[in-house]
Parts: sequence; C-alpha cells; structure tokens
Amino acid sequence: MNKMNEKQRLDSQQANSSDKKSEKDYSKYFERVITAPSLKDAKKRGKEEVKYHNDFSIPEEFRGMGDGRKFYIRTYGCQMNEHDTEVMAGIFLALGYEPTDSTEDANVILLNTCAIRENAENKVFGELGHLKALKMENPDLLIGVCGCMSQEESVVNKILKTYHHVDMIFGTHNIHRLPHILNEAYLSKEMVVEVWSKEGDVIENLPKVRRGNIKAWVNIMYGCDKFCTYCIVPYTRGKERSRRPDEIIQEVRHLAAQGYQEVTLLGQNVNAYGKDFDDIKYGLGDLMEELRKIDIPRIRFTTSHPRDFDDHLIKVLAKGGNLMDHIHLPVQSGSTDVLKIMARKYTREQYLELVRKIKAAIPDVALSTDIIVGYPNETDEQFEETMSLYREVGFEAAYTFIYSPREGTPAAKMVDNVPLEVKKERLQRLNNLVNELSAQAMKKYEGQMVEVLVDGESKNNPDVLAGYTTKNKLVNFKGPKTAIGKIVKVKIIEAKTWSLNGEMVEELEAAEVK
Ligand code: 5AD
Ligand code: SF4
Repeated sequence: MNKMNEKQRLDSQQANSSDKKSEKDYSKYFERVITAPSLKDAKKRGKEEVKYHNDFSIPEEFRGMGDGRKFYIRTYGCQMNEHDTEVMAGIFLALGYEPTDSTEDANVILLNTCAIRENAENKVFGELGHLKALKMENPDLLIGVCGCMSQEESVVNKILKTYHHVDMIFGTHNIHRLPHILNEAYLSKEMVVEVWSKEGDVIENLPKVRRGNIKAWVNIMYGCDKFCTYCIVPYTRGKERSRRPDEIIQEVRHLAAQGYQEVTLLGQNVNAYGKDFDDIKYGLGDLMEELRKIDIPRIRFTTSHPRDFDDHLIKVLAKGGNLMDHIHLPVQSGSTDVLKIMARKYTREQYLELVRKIKAAIPDVALSTDIIVGYPNETDEQFEETMSLYREVGFEAAYTFIYSPREGTPAAKMVDNVPLEVKKERLQRLNNLVNELSAQAMKKYEGQMVEVLVDGESKNNPDVLAGYTTKNKLVNFKGPKTAIGKIVKVKIIEAKTWSLNGEMVEELEAAEVK
C-alpha cells in the first residue's frame, strides 16, 4: 500500500468513526488520538469489495529504527492472536529490532490482548499495572496494547484515563501500520491511539517469524459475520474476508518444502470460507481437497461453526490421508431454546444430525467442543439438555466457560438472572462429565500403537518427550531427542484423564506416514 493510499484510508476511517458519542468521549484526549474505536461502526457490514495487497514494505525512513533495540510481545487468547504475534515479530525484525524473552531487557513491550471474557481482560489490566514500575525505571521504554481489547471503546477510555504509562494502542486491523505507530510513539511521547473500527483489506505479504519449525498456523480467513449474541469477536475482528485459495495453497506448499509437519488453518468461522468470493464458488471442502494433495503429513483447521459445515467438506475429510480425524465443533449449548437466544442458527436436533453425518463418514472421528454455561435465562432443565447432548455425542474434550457479559453485545443487555453460585455449580458438574468422557476415550488407547508428532521435551520433565496423535491426544514417552520434529510410533502403556504415557517403538519412514 503506498503512503498516499494509507493517508486517504486513515482520513476515511476517521470520518467513519465520527459518530457523536465517541467524538464526545474522546475530545479531551483529542491531540493524542489518531483514530479511536467504535463498536457501533465495527458492527456495520458494508458491501465494499475486499482488496488484496501484495505490496507491504518497510518505508525507507523507518529502516534501522530498531537497531540496538529489543522487543517483547506477550500474547493472550486464541491461535489467531498467536499468529498475529508472529506477524508483528516479523515486522519488528524487518525494522532491525531483536527479540527478547525478558520484559526487563526490552525497549518495546506489546501486550497482544484477548477480549472474549472478562477474566481475559482483567489479566491484561493486571499486567499493565505491573509494567508501570518498569516504565518508571526506564522512561524510554515503549509499552503498547494491541489485539482485540484495543478494539473496544471502554478499554481505550480506561487506558487513556488510568494507565498513562501506555505509549500506544493499536487495533487488529492496524497491525501492518506498526512501523508508523512506533515512529509516532517515539516522536510524540504522547499516547498514540490508532484503532480502525472497520476492517482493512487483506495484505498478503506481511513478514512473519513462526514460532518453531514443526507446526505452523495459516490464516485462511479473517473476521466473523455470525454475531452470536454473547460474542465480541465480530466487533473486534471485522467482517468475514477470505484469503484467495492460490495464496493459501502456495503458503502451505512452501511450509511443506521447509519441512513443517503440521499446518493448522485458522479462522474465526472457517466453515464460512469462500462465501465472500463474488467470482468463484469455492468453499472449505474445495480448499481441503487441494491441500490434501500437498506432501505435508498433517492438516487441521479451527474453528468450525456447525451451521456452515457442509456435506462436501465431510466427504473430503472422510478421505483421510493428511486430513486429521479430529474435529473441534463448538456447540455452546444442548438446548434449542438457549441456542436460539444465542443466535447460533441451529437446533439441538440439527447439531446431532450433523454429528451423525460426520460419524457415518469418518467412523473413528474424535469430536471436541466449546460450551457456555449460565447463559441469561438458562434453566436447570436447559442445562441438563447440555449434559445429555454431551453424553449423546460422546465428545472427547471440551473448553467450558461461564457466560461473561461483553459490553456492546446483545446478550449484555439481557437480564442475567442466573446466580453466580448456580453458574459455578453447573460448570463443575459439566467439567466432571468432560473429565469422565475424556478418561473413557483415553482408556481405549492402553496397549494400542499411535502415531505421535513429537513437539519436544515434556513441560514437566526434560527426560520425557511430548507430542500429539492425529486425534490431538497428548502423549508423553521416553525416546531419543532426535525424534523431535518427527512422527513416531508409540505404544501406549497408561492412560490418564488428559494424556497418555507410552514407549516409543520406531520412527516412521516418511513414506509410511499416512
Ligand atoms: N462468555 C463466555 N464464553 C464465551 N465464548 C465466546 N464469548 C463468550 C462469552 N461472552 C466462548 C465460546 C467460544 C469460545 C472461543 O469462547 O464458547 O466458542
Ligand atoms: Fe463468536 Fe464464533 Fe459466534 Fe463468530 S461464530 S460470533 S467468533 S462464537
């Protein structure tokens, strides 16, 4: 993107976000705010065409900005954020900065934040509090807040009012602007806020530094148009924009050639992949059909929405090979009435029918899910429906959450009439069931041989190696360090609730890998 375009775009963003309320809120900080976020603007879904760019470069005047300086990024939340951190690290390196693992050594500290639940936000505010002492010791230190929280007006307001040691706030659509934002922060020494509420275009050639050389994340789409009533993501990540298939295929081919063993395709709602293309009819099933032909041992994708999970995709996944036999399929609730007020756009029966189809096509598939308990108005009976659905599907794992109201979402305006004690008790009961079914699924592996992609040493014991099976089960086993980064056969000796212990039998020859 050339500089002129950037300027025009910035102006139009400012014009977009000039609704009276946010102007009033920010007026007293005006000289510091370049563009402030507005959830109201973020909600809009325009028909404008998404533009694709391949012309990102570090402007001449910023080259060498980081010479002799170090950066540190702390990442909260989902894989999308982890991957954004890889891109920001790539930009820092291109500017001449070096990475550091210590906040004390850093000249720039970024908190890449998550807004999905209140406790995720509280962690960030806690960390910002800790960083104040560092800033006092070292006034030249730059502290930045980016990621989903910076898309929220209330968060930006709170930081402007209370956390004066923060130097910059920038949004999820402004990552490619990092060189300009850093420059502005160095020059002004005032808090720099650049948050576009409306999503940007897709920029293909941003640099990235991948964490590790075994597994890689690949974005296939950005944003979400589902607007589930509890969820802040459609506001913080903008409208659905799919990357072009040839760009994705090329990236996966490149990763395979570099020796990566596993790719996880990322999107907030990967099943909507391609729905925004005007010129071609192309969905996730078509993409997976292409990717399965690439010589890379493992391909996964996350996160799915049941509504858009179509028969073509199921048919392609059933071909197996490098398409993994584990599907994460968030259900959120087992009650049709609760699903309705969540605006999930499917019923309990439709979800079960989808599961039936998936199991018929991929008989040994492992299913995992996300569940929210204690939604406004959720009755005991409705919660029991979630428990019974969990058993009926036979999920092998779940992320379970107590509902957390997010300002600006429709659910936050609903009367939350379920007492916290009841929510906690429901969560406890659900977690007991989740553990029970996980332990059951694990038990079946005792005495079996599994294929494990070895990530490295186990976190708790450096003498033990750890990795994951095709169904995403964690396996700990004794084996040579040379196995790291390879797919090996492990015989399972003992099953625990959330992991398996085994003994390595052999390294698989490349040709044997399914
Ligand atoms: N409260 C609790 N859980 C939530 N999730 C999303 N929004 C909320 C919220 N407001 C959960 C959903 C989603 C997962 C990523 O986080 O289960 O699938
Ligand atoms: Fe949020 Fe997922 Fe629903 Fe999108 S589909 S609104 S990301 S829960």
